[in-house]
Parts: sequence; C-alpha cells; structure tokens
Amino acid sequence: MSGVFLTFEGIEGSGKSTQIRRLSAHLHTCGVDVVLTREPGGTDIGRALRRVLLSTEGEPPHPSTELLLYAADRAQHLSEVIEPALERGAVVLCDRYLDATLAYQGYGRELGVDRVLELHAAPPLDRRPDRTLLIDLDPEDGIARARARNRDLGLEAEEGRFEAEQIRFHQKVRAGYLELAGAEPGRFRLISGDGTEEEVEARVLSAVTDLWPSLREISR
Ligand code: TMP
Repeated sequence: MSGVFLTFEGIEGSGKSTQIRRLSAHLHTCGVDVVLTREPGGTDIGRALRRVLLSTEGEPPHPSTELLLYAADRAQHLSEVIEPALERGAVVLCDRYLDATLAYQGYGRELGVDRVLELHAAPPLDRRPDRTLLIDLDPEDGIARARARNRDLGLEAEEGRFEAEQIRFHQKVRAGYLELAGAEPGRFRLISGDGTEEEVEARVLSAVTDLWPSLREISR
C-alpha cells in the first residue's frame, strides 16, 4: 500500500501554510489518514536545523552550507516521517519540499538546479511528490504579508533572515518556481494566491478533487 505525497510551495507570505492546514482539516473530516508536516523542521533534528538556518544572529551560512543543511533536514524527515507514513498508506501533506531548495538555493542563491538535483539523486533523497501545489503571489504582496504575520507572532528576531532579503531575491525565487512548474505540468498545479483565504481555498480544493472526490461537497 502506498499513500499520496502532496507538497505545497510558494514564496513567503503566499498563504501556503494556512491553505495546507485547511486542506489537512478537510481531509481529516473525510476520514483520510493525514500527516501534516513541514520543511525545514519536521523532526527533532530538523527543528534544530531550522533554528540554525533561520537565525539572524552571526554570520549567515554560505550558500553551500545552506544547501547541505536543507538536504540534511530532508533526509531525516524522509526516513523518520514521510516514508513510514507513505508505507502505511497515509496522505502526507508537506509545507515546502525539494522544489523550495530548487527555487531558493538553485535559483535564488544561484547554485543551479543541477547541483541541487545531483544531491537528491540517491535514497532517501530521491523521493518525488505525487503532486505539488504552487501558490503564486507577487513578492511585494507576499513580503508585506509575511512581515505583518511575523510582527504579530513576535518572530521578527528569530525567523527574519529570509524576509529581510532584497525583493530581487524573492523575484528570482518566484521566477524559479514558475519555471519548475512549467517544466513539470503533470505534477504541478499553479494556484493564484491573490484574494481572500476562502477564495484561495476554493482553488486549492479544485486542484485536488480528482484525488479525493468527497472534497467536492466542501468546495460547493
Ligand atoms: P517557511 O517560512 O515556509 O517555514 O520556510 C522557511 C524558510 O526556509 C523560507 O524562507 C524558505 C526557506 N527554505 C529554503 O531556502 N530552502 C528549502 O529547501 C526550504 C525547505 C526552505
């Protein structure tokens, strides 16, 4: 028995974390065995890595260090959480995955897609999602939303490194995501992040109702 591996991607403030939580709740209501998780930080080791990666103190990591730490987080996450859940037939909803490394480190930090993919060629890192929902938003809107959220949560000092990046960086990341989606139309669903949470949710649901027809009732 093999489950379904669904990932959510998008720039900061795209609303993907809100949407993945909503989808998880709907699937749960429909009686589906759902595992909601995220990268970085889906395991104890991953949470320690997340603190290192998103800290604003001291020297920022070298782009190669950053790449290897995201891959380390993913290797642990796959072996400890994702693969066991898929083996028992669960639906794994993951907030960011390999496409985030391709977009942020490959395109944003300009390490290149090939270098990222090479690192993900062997087990456990060779697992690919069954479907990826890319919530697309203009970086100016996304950063404004992410800043407001971090202020509300008091996260500015701890998790602010990426939000403090230049808008140009986020534009490279967005362009990277769009290129990845264009190259794999079978796996990706491109969803506009514009509008209210409810409007985006309706788009998310219609992007997965072929997998779970019972969600059609909710999206009405
Ligand atoms: P989050 O705010 O969605 O939890 O993501 C944390 C940050 O980590 C976000 O700025 C994107 C970044 N990131 C990468 O740069 N590469 C990766 O592979 C992943 C998973 C996240």
